[in-house]
Amino acid sequence: MKLCVVGSGYVGLVTAVGFAEMGHTVVGVDRDEGKIALLSQGRSPIYEPGLEELLRRNMEGGRLSFTTDLGAGVSSSLFCFIAVGTPNADDGSADLGAVLEVAGDIAKSIRDYRIIVVKSTVPVGTSKKVAETIRKVLGQSGKESQTLFDVVSNPEFLKEGSALDDVLRPDRVVIGVDNPRVGELMKELYAPFTRNGHPVYLMDIPSAELTKYASNAFLATKISFINKMAEICDRTGADIMNVRLGMGSDPRIGMPFLYAGVGYGGSCFPKDVKALIHTGNTLGVTMGILSEVEAINEEQKRIPGRLVDALFPDREDLRVAIWGGAFKAETDDIREASSLVFLDQMIVRKARIALYDPEAMGNLRARYGDRIRFGKDPYDVLPGADVLCLLTEWRIFRTPDWDRVKALMARPVVIDGRNQYDPRELGTRGIDCYGIGRGRPREAR
Ligand SMILES: NC(=O)c1ccc[n+]([C@@H]2O[C@H](COP(=O)([O-])OP(=O)(O)OC[C@H]3O[C@@H](n4cnc5c(N)ncnc54)[C@H](O)[C@@H]3O)[C@@H](O)[C@H]2O)c1
Repeated sequence: MKLCVVGSGYVGLVTAVGFAEMGHTVVGVDRDEGKIALLSQGRSPIYEPGLEELLRRNMEGGRLSFTTDLGAGVSSSLFCFIAVGTPNADDGSADLGAVLEVAGDIAKSIRDYRIIVVKSTVPVGTSKKVAETIRKVLGQSGKESQTLFDVVSNPEFLKEGSALDDVLRPDRVVIGVDNPRVGELMKELYAPFTRNGHPVYLMDIPSAELTKYASNAFLATKISFINKMAEICDRTGADIMNVRLGMGSDPRIGMPFLYAGVGYGGSCFPKDVKALIHTGNTLGVTMGILSEVEAINEEQKRIPGRLVDALFPDREDLRVAIWGGAFKAETDDIREASSLVFLDQMIVRKARIALYDPEAMGNLRARYGDRIRFGKDPYDVLPGADVLCLLTEWRIFRTPDWDRVKALMARPVVIDGRNQYDPRELGTRGIDCYGIGRGRPREAR
């Protein structure tokens, strides 16, 4: 089948590669000329494990191409996916500017019947707006809109860091339609992904749209919940890692997303929680539960900075080493990363900062320039450091050579923002380690 995917960012690009890998013919569209030039050479503008290899393979196989010409994409495709960004507007709502602009642009190029698939995360009711926008543009050009298109909601559930795997082997495919025939065509499009029994849920469009927000908001709630429990642990001597095991082994609760730490970040949870609060407010549905989730998360992000202030109250010229800057492991994405809050706090303190991250240093350099020294490897940022702060759970940081760490640092103090280390074990090595919810001396709370 033939499709185009408008927006070649984290979601659009991985979706395009995934469909091509399954044998469909895909045109990736983006208005960013630099991105399209890079992609056209078979190079990925983002880091995702395995992505570049599949990108090249499918381009070489003639199933995948890229263009800035949206009209060309639409003219050769039955399915037109919209996968552009939906950032928060000033009032917290999802800014639908790019989605509706693309809908209008697609409409200008429609000659024959097309299925417009909204893959961007959009508030309930948006697919209707997309249809209205298309109808309006078609009407202006005197075309009979009723038979020329259908709109589908097909939210994306991929996780950055394992995006390709999630797209190729989705837990579930959610498809919102108001035309059963289109539902069958969408099932056919997804058939190669779901042969192993992964479910396809065909439903009405508003339910599909809301499913995405409900999923992200629930996962964010799980994280903020365990973080609140971690605060109780820090005040009582309980260890959140034990509490997590005891809780998470209840199948009704489950272990995933039950990790205390320096909060969630990324391009989705923070913005989707905000947008859902806004949706609730506009409908008169009180969303206090999510406002609290958000407030807890903001507090979590400030914990490492507060700890540094508590441990080194009057220290000038503090030397801070940081491991990890990406919002999570296996990605170069720093959008809403906890590291940004900590870096800003340390810059205000006039600390000397050295940071190592396996993939995100390019993005951090673009944002902070020479206010940060970037290391060649994890140990390169340690010489003379007063404190080491772990902010991203990359595997490379999991089992460091602690003797080497201790020998390089001026003071053996570790803030473990992702609970990767055992503070008691490090204590026996003469290293002070402060986790999140692992028990903390009063002066460091
Ligand atoms: N990143 C994730 O993990 C993730 C997961 C699931 C869903 N989503 C949702 O998917 C959507 C896209 O997210 P993303 O992370 O891929 O965003 P992104 O910012 O990485 O990519 C968006 C792309 O769209 C392009 N674009 C914007 N306006 C355009 C236009 N008018 N014409 C052509 N191209 C245009 C941009 O140049 C950019 O390359 C969002 O709604 C997001 O909430 C993201």
